[in-house]
Amino acid sequence: MGTFYITTPIYYVNDEPHIGHAYTTIMADVLARFHRLAGDEVLFVTGTDEHGQKVDEAAKKRNLSPQAHADEMVGRFRDLWRVLDISNDDFIRTTEARHTHVVTEILQRIYDAGEIYADNYEGWYCIPDERFWTEKDLIAGNCPDCGRPTVKISEKNYFFRMGKYQDWLIEHIETHPRFIRPEKRRNEILGFLRQPLGDLCISRPKSRLEWGIPLPFDENYVCYVWFDALINYITAPGYLADVARFEHWWPASCHLIGKDILTTHCVYWPTMLKAMGAPQPETIMGHGFWLVDETKMGKSLGNAVRPLDLADKYGVDAFRYFLVRAMTLGQDSDFSEVAFVQRYNTELGNELGNLLNRSVVMAARYLDGVVPNIDRNHAALGALKARTDLTLAAVGEAIDAMNPNAALDAIWRLVREANRFVEVQTPWNLAKDASKRAELEVTIYALLETMRQLAVLLFPVIPSKAREIWQQLGATGSPEDIHLDDLKPWGGLDANGEVAPGDPVFPRIEEVDVAKAEPREDLISFSEFQKLDLRVAKIEAADRVAGADRLLRLQIRLGDEQRQIVAGIAEHYAIDALIGRQIVVVANLQPATIRGVESQGMLLAASDDRDLALIAPDGEISTGAEVR
Ligand code: MSP
Repeated sequence: MGTFYITTPIYYVNDEPHIGHAYTTIMADVLARFHRLAGDEVLFVTGTDEHGQKVDEAAKKRNLSPQAHADEMVGRFRDLWRVLDISNDDFIRTTEARHTHVVTEILQRIYDAGEIYADNYEGWYCIPDERFWTEKDLIAGNCPDCGRPTVKISEKNYFFRMGKYQDWLIEHIETHPRFIRPEKRRNEILGFLRQPLGDLCISRPKSRLEWGIPLPFDENYVCYVWFDALINYITAPGYLADVARFEHWWPASCHLIGKDILTTHCVYWPTMLKAMGAPQPETIMGHGFWLVDETKMGKSLGNAVRPLDLADKYGVDAFRYFLVRAMTLGQDSDFSEVAFVQRYNTELGNELGNLLNRSVVMAARYLDGVVPNIDRNHAALGALKARTDLTLAAVGEAIDAMNPNAALDAIWRLVREANRFVEVQTPWNLAKDASKRAELEVTIYALLETMRQLAVLLFPVIPSKAREIWQQLGATGSPEDIHLDDLKPWGGLDANGEVAPGDPVFPRIEEVDVAKAEPREDLISFSEFQKLDLRVAKIEAADRVAGADRLLRLQIRLGDEQRQIVAGIAEHYAIDALIGRQIVVVANLQPATIRGVESQGMLLAASDDRDLALIAPDGEISTGAEVR
């Protein structure tokens, strides 16, 4: 028994939560709850990352201040976590005073200690990832991480002396095998560290971005969003605010993250902590990605799986179970609703749900619903009792190894053993023979006790179903109040309790439900489509929008009309190559002001996140012609 402090990434509030966010948070919740089961004192923190360019841009698109935008979006995360039964102890927002205060103080302290210096920066920047790259890092001019276009930047900035910690970091990783997990991720980081490690740019000039925590030593700059965000992990347990509390929880036992943010967590964060003189987290666990049809899920790809839809359709607990069960730690998994339903019907419906059902129904039928008093050392219990002992030991080990899937493997071996026990004992035959009464009672008690143990062991994964199981067993108290060690003396289910058979906990899902067409929010009706006024236009002049590398201001002709539109195509088209070209525009779009320039429409272009190509008529046609 000890303390267990687990974190999730703090999610950007530029987007709605999708199944990927739900996965990390559910996994962290399951780990937190397993550690509570093991008797540990747990601190489980999640939250939102609210500063930086991404959030600023998302707010601008909605004509809101970044704070107002964040205040609204944060509710979506909070609400989803409530629905998904997430038991976080704290929810941290990087715009909270408790956090901005800690970041400011750390910046000043390490600046005073000479860990931060000013220099001129020249290089490439990936806006969506908020990461700087050198020329040689780029792959065909694009971000080596996400493949999206980068922009060239030259400006004074502040740098954290990260590079000087390279040797120390390699040594730390090599001497702490649990520091980066799984192995594959550890090797990735060690590979990355074979190249010289540069210093980290930790500032953004306010002229380019105002939405961030101001640098205490230069009012013209704000702090880089990652430097700010990572610090949340020590703000939450009370760094600089409550020394005793901080020392109680820190170092974190586990930072659970997706593999996309490995470098920031395994390189930036450890070196930042080192510079602050704070101890290192025990484990940084980088899980794989949920894919849909083998591609990464995302709003921009239109293939995001919405967690609430699935939880609504099949139940929160089944959804939690599936996510934990279907992903092998460290690997990517393809999400499929068909696989979900198959697993649900087999494991939750047939194996677990059925075991409960037959146990309580037989207790009701053969024993008047009363839990019998039996000899807890009866020979017939042998195999089942032995399997329970093994299960408890395996679950304990899986918790230590932070591997919920291994715990579920062990738990399911017990479920299957119990189902086999029913087949071997054939209680329906025992019930026909009065001389077998003792054995009948032993058999049914064993099943009920196994179900009780299962409810406790499964509570971390399926909390509300575990409570329902508990009720049907007529057990007293609540499954969440029982620890792993309390289960070891087998036979804790009190005699004379009354079972209460109820509805199946996991009713079968007919495969046809899966195929049935759902009303799809992503489709539009023909009349909605008809509202679009798409027209051919001709570009007559173009120039750059000041302070925005991606944007061009185009003067276009649309029939008799002349209009101005702003388009994010500067990185893909030279101005000269645009003049005289025909394009397609949305002509009835509400005008918007982008970077101080009015845009009276929008041009159409195809883009795959790497390349961009303008949509144009396949032959000369009069400008102003309708696109139908
Ligand atoms: N704000 C940063 C994290 C700062 S932590 C100090 C960020 N936010 S995010 O909103 O983009 O969330 C990224 C995380 O969401 C991933 O690391 C992962 O935990 C989760 N996932 C997002 N998409 C995912 C999948 N498709 N599959 C699994 N998890 C994924 O990065």
